[in-house]
Amino acid sequence: MKKRLIIGNWKCNPSTLKEAKRLFLTILKKIKKKKTIEVGICPPFVYLYPLSNLDRKKKIVLGAQDVFFEIGGPFTGQISPKMLKDLGCKYVIIGHSEKRKFGEDDQLINKKIQISLKSKLIPIFCLGETLEEKEKGKNFERVSIQIQEGLKGITKKEIEKIVFAYEPVWSIGTGLACQIDDVFSMTIFIRKILSQKFHIKNSQNVYILYGGSVDSQNAKRYIEDAKVDGLLVGGSSLKPEEFLEIIHSLY
Ligand code: PGA
Repeated sequence: MKKRLIIGNWKCNPSTLKEAKRLFLTILKKIKKKKTIEVGICPPFVYLYPLSNLDRKKKIVLGAQDVFFEIGGPFTGQISPKMLKDLGCKYVIIGHSEKRKFGEDDQLINKKIQISLKSKLIPIFCLGETLEEKEKGKNFERVSIQIQEGLKGITKKEIEKIVFAYEPVWSIGTGLACQIDDVFSMTIFIRKILSQKFHIKNSQNVYILYGGSVDSQNAKRYIEDAKVDGLLVGGSSLKPEEFLEIIHSLY
């Protein structure tokens, strides 16, 4: 059986290292380890090093929320995939709508995916339509373009090293969780494009997560009924009891 993947995206929170450690340790202490579930946390860059030094007892893996598209050099303010890998990061979120909003386009996302794969970081490639696109019935078209553009130059072999995250923009941080049926249709659509474009034999092997107002009440339904392989959790990952409930609801 495929492992379920539950990733907490802390975004620009919390505001001190002390709080970050407390939050992380509270979750760490109470997680019941299970072979079939992998829990990851993507804190802000500055907390990665101190958190990577805690004894995580293999219960939580780390991920970053972004990455630069070069390995190193004169790029003020950037963080390279090699640096993240060196700190023990396993995942990196790429193409989140909160980055796209500030000008990150499909080409930039494509470069970040390519360099991450080269550096053996697993990209969590975010896809999703805006409310306007959804209302115009363009959700599938939008996601299709994001996939085609974001994966230019990516080989068939590399596709299985990418985690896809369907995150409708209108559902992020709004409490408007996407309908189970709509998530289910989108996962089928994503697998179909990957099979057609990359000739993937078994697109069921590809990881697809759902993200957008996930909480302990809806988590299990996304996994069981919408058939996603895991969840990308924003706001609820900052509330330790809620995040733990999400994880444990899948046991
Ligand atoms: P949310 O965020 O769970 O707060 O809606 C999800 C995300 O942005 O990854």
